[in-house]
Amino acid sequence: MSNQETFIPQPTADGSFTFFSEEFGELFHSHYGAYQESIHKFVVPTQLEIQAQKPVIRILDICYGLGYNTAAAIQTIWSINPDCHIEIIALEMNSAVPKAAITHQLFNHWNCENIDILDILIRIAENHYLEAKNVKANLLLGDARITIQQLLASGFQADAIFLDPFSPPQCPQLWTIEFMQLVSQCLSLTGRLATYSCAASVRTALLTSGLEIGSTPPVGRKAPGTIAIHPQAEETILPPLSTSELEHLQTRAAIPYRDFQLCDSAAVILERRKQEQQRSSLEPTSHWRKRWHRTHKHN
Ligand SMILES: C[S@@+](CC[C@H](N)C(=O)[O-])C[C@H]1O[C@@H](n2cnc3c(N)ncnc32)[C@H](O)[C@@H]1O
Repeated sequence: MSNQETFIPQPTADGSFTFFSEEFGELFHSHYGAYQESIHKFVVPTQLEIQAQKPVIRILDICYGLGYNTAAAIQTIWSINPDCHIEIIALEMNSAVPKAAITHQLFNHWNCENIDILDILIRIAENHYLEAKNVKANLLLGDARITIQQLLASGFQADAIFLDPFSPPQCPQLWTIEFMQLVSQCLSLTGRLATYSCAASVRTALLTSGLEIGSTPPVGRKAPGTIAIHPQAEETILPPLSTSELEHLQTRAAIPYRDFQLCDSAAVILERRKQEQQRSSLEPTSHWRKRWHRTHKHN
């Protein structure tokens, strides 16, 4: 991963800005709205407004990037309970990304009344560590496949996990069964994991890691996201998958990415899955697509 890439702010439909990654060939957020995505795909599904009543909330922000998900989480929690102590562990490969978000003053468009939050984001970007009144944050730099192992060894248990890598075809390393198994072990028994992805392969990896999954409402574009919890989480009913989504999980698209030693390149992981799909007797995903998209909407 190159730290030399220059990041130029790109506007999104809600007025907030994002970056484009030349390396991954993708925007860091949905063009429908970067801020909206943080709120509706991550903060709302992990129920931080409800969790804010607790004295302490622990958050694992996988792929910290510009820091939007962390910022939206802090903003939401403290708007409800300013005394809530927030502990954040963030995983990120490229330290230039959070720095560029600060340099370009991207949080100026956030309507963020609490200037302490901006100060927190600056200190995370510059020092990768922060301990202040009611907040502690650690930005663990490096490949998340490695840093997650260090985190797991430390015993960290998250109340909320934000899983926000680039898309599976661009960054399959962070959507594999092996990675998800480590991530799920960092989720507390009552915690909630949210991701913007509704890919069948991602959902299979979450299910294989022993989590239960539900669908989160679509924002801007038609696709929903995914929420996951431990089956032991009592009194929790997740928004169910639609019939179309359940059938999607029976097609070749549901064949998950594998990375047995957690060190394969993206190309190797993609090729391994392609070969498995070619050998598979599951229904081709094109049949499912025709069935659902000709006569029904996706959801
Ligand atoms: C879609 S962006 C995340 C956006 C971010 N959550 C935000 O709110 O701004 C994906 C991020 O993953 C990082 N990344 C890519 N590969 C990684 C890896 N193997 N380990 C850790 N971070 C990685 C990229 O540098 C990028 O910042």
